[in-house]
Amino acid sequence: MHTRQVYKGKLFLLFVVIFIFIVIISVRTPRSYGSIPKPLGAEVTCPHQVSEQTITLLNNTKHFLVSAYVDERVNGFSLRIIGIFRRDSVRSLHCVFCCDGHLSTTTPATILPHSDHFGFRFCATDVMCQVPRNCDATHVTLLTQPDGVKVLNHSWLPIRNRNVKEEKKIQFDFTVCISNLFGNYNNVLQFAQTLEMYRLLGVNRVVIYNTSCGPDLERLLQSYSQEGFVELVPWPIDRYLNPSSGWLFSQHGGDVHYFGQLTTLNECIYRSMDRSRYVLLNDIDEIIMPYQHRDLKGLMDMLQQKHPNTGVFLIENHIFPKKPLEENKKGPLPQWKGVPGYNILEHIYREEPDRNIYHPHKMIVQPR
Ligand SMILES: *[C@@H]1O[C@H](CO)[C@@H](O)[C@H](O)[C@H]1NC(C)=O
Ligand SMILES: *[C@@H]1O[C@H](CO)[C@@H](O)[C@H](O)[C@H]1NC(C)=O
Ligand SMILES: *[C@@H]1O[C@H](CO)[C@@H](O)[C@H](O)[C@H]1NC(C)=O
Repeated sequence: MHTRQVYKGKLFLLFVVIFIFIVIISVRTPRSYGSIPKPLGAEVTCPHQVSEQTITLLNNTKHFLVSAYVDERVNGFSLRIIGIFRRDSVRSLHCVFCCDGHLSTTTPATILPHSDHFGFRFCATDVMCQVPRNCDATHVTLLTQPDGVKVLNHSWLPIRNRNVKEEKKIQFDFTVCISNLFGNYNNVLQFAQTLEMYRLLGVNRVVIYNTSCGPDLERLLQSYSQEGFVELVPWPIDRYLNPSSGWLFSQHGGDVHYFGQLTTLNECIYRSMDRSRYVLLNDIDEIIMPYQHRDLKGLMDMLQQKHPNTGVFLIENHIFPKKPLEENKKGPLPQWKGVPGYNILEHIYREEPDRNIYHPHKMIVQPR
């Protein structure tokens, strides 16, 4: 009896051990299966390090990459990289892709520096790449050598506007791109009035590239961005270059025209391509104001009907002088007292344009 009981006890213990063992195995197994990334057992080799910055130094070069977009409009290419390149050190580059976790073969890159550089050393540059066949590319980077050996230490750019379908519903009618905010710019009153004017005219999104701004404007933009009307893109170009606050190298010095304005406007067009019917490129002290239509949609419907195959519309600048012709005796609304900036409602007189001089233009672009 005694030995039997001991035996029974041991048997029970054995059962318990087996049971625990089985439980452990069955609890563990799914996890270890879960950590195997691909059913085929292939290892994920990329992207090792994805850039989360708006400006990324391209390793082994003096160039900067900003973003990458699918762009199948140019024959023989399928991807466009937006960048800022140093003009005196452009050498051949090779595109390499991360295709669903695997490195692709490299393809030659076509480097297209923009012709507008105004004498500065750095200029807006597009790089066109061809994605290899059978590659579902998620990330891209550029190499100085056609072999992919040293690729692991590069920062990868995520590829945007993937799977854009022609028939996909377009989210916005109008996007305004405000190129660059820099210095201690704190013109809150004009900024708020202009944003609200855009809204009344049917603008759905305002994209702003921010290098720095003043304290009151900071608060204003934070609240517009929480609401979703403003999209703030960090633009810390002063961390990488000595950006010029002027437009001409010989007069203003520095590394790049107007804090890289041509690059940000270019980037904004591609950022909006997937989601906006029209893109307006202007500054915050500019408003494209229809006078025969109640909003921009009415204006564009008419213009597009008249010019069905036109993708870019140029709008001539006209000036409303800073100094109001008639000072408003009452001053601004009491609620606006102490708000820094111009009250645009007081600047209602347009200067007669001098037809002997050139007037610059602003653009309305149909981005596709
Ligand atoms: C790769 O990059 C990491 C940091 O990004 C650095 O610590 C490492 O030394 C680099 N390796 C090589 C071989 O350059
Ligand atoms: C760039 O390459 C150097 C070695 O050439 C490496 O130490 C560094 O981590 C790389 N940086 C990035 C951002 O890939
Ligand atoms: C603009 O950029 C500066 C510098 O990075 C940052 O301190 C500030 O918070 C940014 N402002 C907004 C409104 O994004």
